[in-house]
Amino acid sequence: MDMLPEKTRELHNHHFDSTVWNDFKFRDDDIVIGTYAKSGTTWVQQIVGQLVFDGNEDVAVGEISPWIDLRVPPKEEKFGMIESQDHRRFVKTHLPLDALVFSPKAKYIYIGRDGRDVVWSFYNHHLNANDLWYEILNDSPGRVGPPIDKPKDSVVEYFRDWLENDGYPIWSYWENIGTWWPARNLDNVLFLHYAKLKEDMPGEIRRVADFLEIDVSPDRWPAILEHCSFDYMKANAEQATPLGGAVWEGGAKTFVHKGKNGRWQNELPAELSDVYEKMAVEKLGAECADWLKTGKL
Ligand code: A3P
Repeated sequence: MDMLPEKTRELHNHHFDSTVWNDFKFRDDDIVIGTYAKSGTTWVQQIVGQLVFDGNEDVAVGEISPWIDLRVPPKEEKFGMIESQDHRRFVKTHLPLDALVFSPKAKYIYIGRDGRDVVWSFYNHHLNANDLWYEILNDSPGRVGPPIDKPKDSVVEYFRDWLENDGYPIWSYWENIGTWWPARNLDNVLFLHYAKLKEDMPGEIRRVADFLEIDVSPDRWPAILEHCSFDYMKANAEQATPLGGAVWEGGAKTFVHKGKNGRWQNELPAELSDVYEKMAVEKLGAECADWLKTGKL
């Protein structure tokens, strides 16, 4: 087996406390879902939830599948919940791989999305965040570094800031993808891409099921597909969204927003889009940049 990724540092900011993973007690069948953010994390949580629970419609992944490295709620609360779970656990992380504890016991699913789609999605997430969202991130104990500010009122300027300031106002996109990419061929790692999931959700869900060694009962397959569709997830957004959507204006339906790629195409100036594309190749290499853009591995 290839060398396992090793944690080499901690990462703290308004969202992160990477040290929480240091006390995570892995079980043999744990599933960890990793992404930069706004890349389809919740969709993959829903897919995994549907596979683990055989298409049951009462599975509230927003509640049972926590974001481990988020600073809130305190780790005791999070651990209390997941340690009491007797089903196969699935949790999420937005850490770069060099700040994450990587266990050979767990299976890791990483999902990528074009950075332009990610920023368009995050802009909606951030613009509609309510006072409670800012309070949780900025005023809770343990924040390191500056608070997160309200976004500018132009998505293009928001994108420019993100590109020029290495992921501002969140974290580095290049670092997140660049640290995960070398792990893509490990036995306990599966790479997915938002665009591929859109193109062929049934085929991609089968890949996830095979990877997780879950036998899908044929009679439950239609329910699984329905529950993972965008329309179903939008209609039942409270079930999948963190805190049931309480930290966004418009609630959970704001979080499960449009569910498609390419919304930037009519708004982002070509020159800025080109800078993004060149930077992707510079930071990640041509093969990884191409995967991010197309989903083709
Ligand atoms: P948009 O904001 O572009 O609509 P994350 O869970 O990583 O925060 O990602 C959120 C993005 O995934 C949002 O994108 C959301 O609409 C999209 N999403 C959630 N469920 C989806 C589904 N079933 N099909 C397609 N996109 C989905």
